[in-house]
Amino acid sequence: MVNTLNKGSKNLGRVLKHSYAPRGGCKAVMEDKGPEVLISGPAGTGKSRACLEKIYTICLKTPNVRALILRKTLASLGSTALVTWRRYVIAEALVTGDVVYYGGSREEPAQYRFKNGSTVVIGGLDKPTRIMSAEYDIIYIQEATEVTLDDLEMVKTRLRNWTISYQQLIMDCNPAGDKHWLKLRCNDGYTRLIESRHEDNPMLFNEDGSLTEKGVDYIENILDKLTGVRYKRLRLGLWVSAEGIVYEEFDPYMHILPRTYVDEDGDEVTFEIPWDWTRYWVIDFGFVHPFVLKCYAESPDGDLYMYREIYMTQRTVEEHAQTILDIVSPEVEKSYYDHINRVKRTVKHRKWTEPKPMAILCDWDAEGRRTFENATQLGTKAAIKNVFEGINAQKERLKAQRIIYMADSLVELDQDQRDKLLPTCTVDEYPGYVWKVDKDDRTLEEPVKRDDDGLDCDRYLISWLDLVGKARASQM
Ligand SMILES: Nc1ncnc2c1ncn2[C@@H]1O[C@H](COP(=O)(O)OP(=O)(O)OP(=O)(O)O)[C@@H](O)[C@H]1O
Ligand SMILES: [Mg+2]
Repeated sequence: MVNTLNKGSKNLGRVLKHSYAPRGGCKAVMEDKGPEVLISGPAGTGKSRACLEKIYTICLKTPNVRALILRKTLASLGSTALVTWRRYVIAEALVTGDVVYYGGSREEPAQYRFKNGSTVVIGGLDKPTRIMSAEYDIIYIQEATEVTLDDLEMVKTRLRNWTISYQQLIMDCNPAGDKHWLKLRCNDGYTRLIESRHEDNPMLFNEDGSLTEKGVDYIENILDKLTGVRYKRLRLGLWVSAEGIVYEEFDPYMHILPRTYVDEDGDEVTFEIPWDWTRYWVIDFGFVHPFVLKCYAESPDGDLYMYREIYMTQRTVEEHAQTILDIVSPEVEKSYYDHINRVKRTVKHRKWTEPKPMAILCDWDAEGRRTFENATQLGTKAAIKNVFEGINAQKERLKAQRIIYMADSLVELDQDQRDKLLPTCTVDEYPGYVWKVDKDDRTLEEPVKRDDDGLDCDRYLISWLDLVGKARASQM
């Protein structure tokens, strides 16, 4: 039976009807009243929509409910769950004024306020102070595989508002590796795991099980074209790790550093890279495949912090050069007095807002390098491509936590890559980067050359610093 939630909102005599009909796993998550529930499944089954609809329904039905929508970082929440929330879930209520947005203040976090006194607070775990000082009835963590067990436990202590008869943590995610702590938590029975399937989403499947037009497009043209572990997780919804994964040492909790975090004294600290750390840029050229340009800072101990990343298809090298220049050296106007003509004039010039890179390493695209050099007036060097040694050097760095990725380093999301469910930044590449196998299933000492543009950049820089640098030092 389809459970249709129709909620009327009055607007100058008009009634705007909100309708949502959940199915399968999505329906199950809407109805669940347990303390901790996770809805997991392949891409686009309607998981986030179901969690958001649940929050909306509860807030609408009972006055003074307090809900919290969370993601690992606030920036990532804005581009995902909040779009669905505004566009589909509260669209009518925003029009009628039954729900209004409040942007927040020093004391209060950003939130959606319902006429009946209910509140939906939004936040990121990177900026927890204001959100975590309050109490809630229901907390929703989007893409829960991104957070840590510590995050989850901290969040759960906030569930004690008791305006409704149960207090709940709901989470959604696409599956990760089979040993992921969240999957193990489900296996141990602490979290109820609800599986969601593509058939749950009426945008993709009709009631009779046939594909809709959108469904054909999404499933056959996008999901079925995925490969390796991305296919297994995003098409089939399986909790699996890739076989023959190259960088087993990569662990998001160890290698991704939020820009803002809470220190031991409980203070929110924003990490700023000191001006005197050496900067490097690395470029992997591409047009159909992503063009990747990454900026790194090297600490005095030699640790690398990747703090900015352009990861984009379908743009020319000139366009990318312009993008990076506008970020690191925006144009500023300078006025001066022209004594000969006795007029005041202004000239534009570029002012660097961070140190210039000590070196710019590039892949071997000579044409790309020339174009980039001409557009930026910066010299470049060809990267060394000893793949196997480079991978080993990168593994050593990962093991020792000597390469760190700053969260939210992406300059601009490549929507085309996102729509095709392909990596949109380097850390997306790690789970699917695997060793090649020959026809007898023997693992070779070279990786599969696919979805590796960002990882290649890391390898070029690490090879240059750790292999070439060492060779240079030993000759001295
Ligand atoms: N029952 C439904 N009725 C109408 N539209 C729906 C329904 N369920 C989902 N959708 C729509 O389908 C799209 C995908 O849904 P949603 O973002 O919730 O999927 P998801 O499983 O969270 O995806 P991802 O795995 O990428 O996070 C959204 O536009 C959503 O509004
Ligand atoms: Mg989602």
